[in-house]
Amino acid sequence: MSPGESSTYTWAGRFSEPMSDLVKRYTASVAFDQRLWRQDIRASLAHARMLARQAIITAADLEDIERGMAQVVSEIEAGIFVWSPDLEDVHLNIEKRLTSLVGDAGKRLHTGRSRNDQVATDMRLYVRDSIDGILALLDQLQSALLDIAEREAATPLPGFTHLQVAQPVTFGHHLLAYHEMMRRDGERYVDCRRRTNRLPLGSAALAGTSYPVDRLYVAELLGFDGLCENSLDAVSDRDFAIEFCAACALLMMHFSRLSEELVLWMNPRFGFITLADRFCTGSSIMPQKKNPDVAELARGKTGRVYGHLTALLTLMKGQPLAYNKDNQEDKEPVFDAVDTVTDTLRVFIEMVPGITANRRKMRAALDEGFATATDLADYLVGKGLPFRDAHETVGLAVRRAEELGMDLSQLSLGELRQFSPLVGEDLVLSVEASLAARNHQGGTAPEQVLAAVDRARRR
Ligand code: ARG
Repeated sequence: MSPGESSTYTWAGRFSEPMSDLVKRYTASVAFDQRLWRQDIRASLAHARMLARQAIITAADLEDIERGMAQVVSEIEAGIFVWSPDLEDVHLNIEKRLTSLVGDAGKRLHTGRSRNDQVATDMRLYVRDSIDGILALLDQLQSALLDIAEREAATPLPGFTHLQVAQPVTFGHHLLAYHEMMRRDGERYVDCRRRTNRLPLGSAALAGTSYPVDRLYVAELLGFDGLCENSLDAVSDRDFAIEFCAACALLMMHFSRLSEELVLWMNPRFGFITLADRFCTGSSIMPQKKNPDVAELARGKTGRVYGHLTALLTLMKGQPLAYNKDNQEDKEPVFDAVDTVTDTLRVFIEMVPGITANRRKMRAALDEGFATATDLADYLVGKGLPFRDAHETVGLAVRRAEELGMDLSQLSLGELRQFSPLVGEDLVLSVEASLAARNHQGGTAPEQVLAAVDRARRR
């Protein structure tokens, strides 16, 4: 066969029999990797500009390539581009169409590169773009959390340990805990972006290229901070995608925790919050139901993102240098992690402002749980009692209050004095006093919650 006459495959020259349909289907990735088309074309145009600048192709070739690619872009955007599984992947589909539009210049585009450094570049661009999108959404969600944290800065609710009433906290403080988790999530994405944003192109198939390429120029055109230093590493490792999925898995874990709390708080036994109706669904047979489906789904979707992280770690382990086709399997986990995280962020950005605190219910739960027991112990310590003794004394008082069906703060001074003569007129046992006492950076006092909101907004 002479050049150009071979089968649809650009690499079929050395083959004597066609690929079976089953193998074609098994090896093709275009059904899912067409999603990389913008990154693929951006990278190809940068590569072509470099080739022309280095006089590896002519200025006329570059012009043809740019004109042809503009046509390809408009066809894809219009939805009339024909993606063919016969052409295996996004790279070959685009290159083939370009060639059919502009002829030889299209065939020269692949000079000095390989699909191995091409796909590694596309994936890095894709992960980088996705991180930028996720960071913008995270920012919006954090603002929404700050808004209700500010509104509920002085709203008391029981703080739990072991899911048992422990001490009073403010709802604002509770929400700021999630704000902090998401701040760290953002930092992880920023950190991952730094290592992702290095250029593989120029590594070619694995060993580099014999053409006088200018890799730094390509890096600059594509907004990369630098080059992948080693060609073998550049075409083979997908650690950046793994890190990205790890950041997504952690973010989803935090969403799952928040979701679990929303579900609990929606349960009438808690009744701490209501969610706007548009984020809940009813039951087909039980007319009374209002189910927090969005939160439940976010909790459930966490699992698939963990799965993607595991898939990528397993995909990479045991691969010898350099590129192996295994790496084609990196796409779907990354894409689904992006979709899941992006959709979850979007839905929470809308849902969080629709959280209404039921302050009365929160308060009632606090009044039932002896939440000020630690404050009574601290008071006795202030009067000179060693903490361990104070702890025991208050334990006895709690037992008595329980027998009487009362809260600690409802016991009279006389009753409390039966447990310790140190109890005096100056004892103030109230939720408000308990909150106000925790008045240091990181504490739950309303004043501190407002200060924390303020610091977060200024950041
Ligand atoms: N579709 C391939 C991938 O996603 C592109 C690289 C293929 N390279 C190769 N030599 N077969 O990894």
